[in-house]
Amino acid sequence: METPFTPPLPGGTWRLGDSTVTRFGYGAMQLAGPWVMGPPADHDGALAVLREAVGLGITHIDTSDAYGPRVTNQLIREALHPYPESLFIATKVGATRDAQGGWPTARRPEDLRKQVHENLDSLGVEALDLVNMRMGDAQGPRPDSIAEAFETLVALQQEGLIRHLGVSNVTAEQVAEARGIAPVVCVQNMYNLAHRHDDDLVDHLAADGIAYVPFFPLGGFTPLQSEALSRVASRLGATPMSVALAWLMRRSPNILLIPGTSSTAHLRENIAGAGLALSDEDMAELDGVGRA
Ligand SMILES: NC(=O)c1ccc[n+]([C@@H]2O[C@H](COP(=O)([O-])OP(=O)(O)OC[C@H]3O[C@@H](n4cnc5c(N)ncnc54)[C@H](OP(=O)(O)O)[C@@H]3O)[C@@H](O)[C@H]2O)c1
Repeated sequence: METPFTPPLPGGTWRLGDSTVTRFGYGAMQLAGPWVMGPPADHDGALAVLREAVGLGITHIDTSDAYGPRVTNQLIREALHPYPESLFIATKVGATRDAQGGWPTARRPEDLRKQVHENLDSLGVEALDLVNMRMGDAQGPRPDSIAEAFETLVALQQEGLIRHLGVSNVTAEQVAEARGIAPVVCVQNMYNLAHRHDDDLVDHLAADGIAYVPFFPLGGFTPLQSEALSRVASRLGATPMSVALAWLMRRSPNILLIPGTSSTAHLRENIAGAGLALSDEDMAELDGVGRA
C-alpha cells in the first residue's frame, strides 16, 4: 500500500529538557467554545485537527485545564490517548475560570497542587511533560515575586508529577527569579510581529539555550494587521498569517511556534506558511512593524 507523503515540518526541532520537540507545534486553546468556554461547536472537527497535527509530525501541543475548562485536555485525550512516545504536551497553571468566562488567578500552593492533579487526570497521564507557571493577568505580566508559586511546582516535580518547568506571562525579572530556584526550559509570553516588548528576553534566552514560546503568534483574538505585513505577503503571494509565522520562525532558533486553529485547512496553511523563505529585505521590512 502507498504510504501517504508527510512533508517535513519547517524549523526542525528543539531540545526541551530531555525531550526533542518540533519547532512547529500546535496551541489547543482555540478548540474550546467561544471565549475558551464550553465545548467546541464541532466536536469531531476538533478531534480531526488534533489527529491531523500529530499525523503531520507535530510533537509539541500546548494546552491548559483552564481551557473550557477541561474541554481541550479532554479533547486531546479523546483524540490522541494512548499518546505516541514522541508527543510532548505542555500545560499551564495559575488561573481558573469563573462562570462569566473570566480567568481569576489561583496561585496559592493548594490551588497549584489541585490544578496539577486536574491536568494529570484530564490528560490521563502519570506525569506532565511540562507545566508553565502562569503569572500576571489578562493585561500581561505583573512585577510580583514568582518564588512561592514556582517552588510549589518544584516540589510537585520532585514528587514525580511534572517532568519539566516553564514560566508564562512573566517579566524578565521573574524569569531570572525562577531560574535561581530550578531549571526553566521555556518562557511562554505574548509576542508576535507587532508586539516586540520581549525582544531582549528572546535573545537572552537563546544565548542560554532556553526556548521562547510566543502565545498569540497570529494576534490571538485580534488578528495581526499591518501594511508592511500585507505588502510583504502580496509580494510573496502568501497570506499575512503565513508571513507572520515565517517571521517568527526566522526571528530566533529558540522560538517554538504554537499557533492555534480549529481548522485542518488552516493548520496545513500555517505549516506551509511557517516554511516560507523570507529574504533579508523582507525581514528588514517586517522588523519595522513592531520593534520598540
Ligand atoms: N500562556 C498564556 O497565557 C496563553 C495565552 C493565550 C494563548 N496561549 C496559548 O497560545 C496558543 C496560540 O494562541 P491563540 O490560538 O490564542 O492565538 P493565535 O495562534 O495567535 O491565533 C489563533 C487565531 O487565528 C486564527 N487562524 C489560525 N490560522 C489561521 C489561518 N491560516 N488563516 C486565518 N485565520 C487563522 C484562528 O482561527 P481558526 O480557528 O478559524 O483557524 C484563531 O482564531 C493557544 O492555543 C494557547 O495554547 C497561552
